[in-house]
Amino acid sequence: DDAFDEECDYLFKAVLIGDSGVGKSNLLSRFAKDEFRLDSKPTIGVEFAYRNIKVRDKLIKAQIWDTAGQERFRAITSSYYRGALGAVLVYDITRRSSYESVGKWLVELREFGGEDMVVILVGNKCDLSESREVDKEEGKAFAEEEGLCFMETSALKNLNVEQVFLQMITKIL
Ligand code: GTP
Ligand code: MG
Repeated sequence: DDAFDEECDYLFKAVLIGDSGVGKSNLLSRFAKDEFRLDSKPTIGVEFAYRNIKVRDKLIKAQIWDTAGQERFRAITSSYYRGALGAVLVYDITRRSSYESVGKWLVELREFGGEDMVVILVGNKCDLSESREVDKEEGKAFAEEEGLCFMETSALKNLNVEQVFLQMITKIL
């Protein structure tokens, strides 16, 4: 709200990236509004949401940008990354191809993102463990190799969603 805006210590921009259908928009709506949709549509262009949050006694206004995983729906990439201090790179633990795309997303991130960007690799949909195609240990080991933070989440069950954004903000601070 307005009162918070006046007292706000920092405004942080962060971006969500990853293949279409991995759950970026639902992770954001869970974090920003505590909402989840089973029938969400692919994102077209760019959307964003805010959430005010207190971390280590600082009042943070987190501005999270969300774009289409589908190439044909994506907006101009450089403007999407401009000024972003953090990135959440999402794959779907039940779809191996979305994990295999992580390298491609990292290339884009390193081309357009800032040097010191905090990056969290997120394996989403961990509620669907019976259909798992990527082991948690594999994701974690890859993140370590690449110098990224790592977490598995479920936007559906609201597991670790807040923790992802909190960890990112804490690392930026
Ligand atoms: P694009 O906008 O096309 O890039 O896709 P997206 O990454 O934003 O995916 P979206 O959030 O629209 O979710 C795609 C589908 O996965 C939807 O049917 C969601 O309901 C579902 N979904 C998202 N997160 C989860 C989750 O944690 N668990 C389960 N079971 N389904 C999820
Ligand atoms: Mg989306």
